[in-house]
Amino acid sequence: PNTSRAAPLFRRLRPSSTDRAGHFHGHHPHDTSFGGVLRSFAVTTLGAETSSRPVRLFTEEELQSYDGSEEGKPIYMAVKGAVFDVTGGKEFYGKDAPYNVLVGKDSTRAVAKMSLDPSDLTSDVTGLSEEQLESLESVFEGTYKAKYPIVGYTASRILNPDGSPNKAFQPEDQPHFLIKDEF
Ligand code: HEM
Repeated sequence: PNTSRAAPLFRRLRPSSTDRAGHFHGHHPHDTSFGGVLRSFAVTTLGAETSSRPVRLFTEEELQSYDGSEEGKPIYMAVKGAVFDVTGGKEFYGKDAPYNVLVGKDSTRAVAKMSLDPSDLTSDVTGLSEEQLESLESVFEGTYKAKYPIVGYTASRILNPDGSPNKAFQPEDQPHFLIKDEF
């Protein structure tokens, strides 16, 4: 029997001009033991190899509205184009909390460099050292993926710069995701 598919939630929106695409599609060779737990969880949950859950696409503007400034609204932050619900880490990310500048956006570069400098609050990883990329990978797996649910992906991870679907897109938590189901 076929598995039921939920209606596609993708919206065909172009990434804004400040979005950068294409930096995160390779898999860094550095790996940690954390990923395996999530992967096997996803496999058991999905059951069928070809099923996939719809994925939510976030524009920059949308992500911005989850910056912790509004009491009672969830707090979202993207790392490597994956949007995490970090509401559970309010003491880190909430209004007036030390890492509040990281939320409501993709802060990949800041996480890689362990920097809160405004110029590092971007998804751009251009020119990062090997050590910084390894640190990024370890915080991505060991903190974000291990601790917080993924609620979607940024436009720059899902779409190509021209707005067409990036066929190589693979959700972190769905090893058998088929992008053709979504378009
Ligand atoms: C004086 C400098 C800093 C100190 C003393 C410090 C201290 C800490 C401490 C105590 C934790 C909590 C660890 C835990 O309970 O799991 C933490 C987590 C964290 N720190 Fe820092 N930190 C500093 C600077 C930075 C900077 C510059 C960044 C820039 C990105 C940063 C990013 C993070 C992140 C992303 C977490 C994980 C939060 C989470 O679990 O969601 N830290 N830090």
